[in-house]
Amino acid sequence: MRRLLPIATLLLAACGPGEAPPKPLTPAESAALAPSDPQLAQLYAGSCKACHTVADSQAPLTGDRTKWDPRWTKGEAALLASALQGMGKMPAGGQCFECTPDDLKRLIRFMAGREQ
Ligand code: HEC
Repeated sequence: MRRLLPIATLLLAACGPGEAPPKPLTPAESAALAPSDPQLAQLYAGSCKACHTVADSQAPLTGDRTKWDPRWTKGEAALLASALQGMGKMPAGGQCFECTPDDLKRLIRFMAGREQ
């Protein structure tokens, strides 16, 4: 029983009052976001951003955790696989021909609101 205590404390901290529930973003708010790494920002601006900041594209808006959190539960490997293979209206590789799988993984983290 004593060993369970630290885990319980961690779980409580994870959903404590410090973490506000995610709010939806407008396409303009989404479009104002960019990865902090300039090289990644360039890849993002040249591909993902064209769809992932446009409501009509049916793509989850960058930075909008209300859209990304349900997808994030699939796990990063599954999200990377979707980006590599394409999904629905998203072409394979997210239309980024120079992106490595590692770039895609970092782009997904950024877009899902989990850059840190
Ligand atoms: C041509 C438009 C378009 C471009 C460009 C694009 N996406 Fe997407 N993306 C979509 C759409 C539409 C969906 C939703 C697909 C669905 O749910 O059927 C999506 C969904 C996703 C998902 C969620 C997959 C899942 O399993 O739920 C990830 C991850 C993703 N995109 C990553 C990227 C990355 C990274 C880039 C840039 C390298 C990118 N996308 C570029 C349109 C695009």
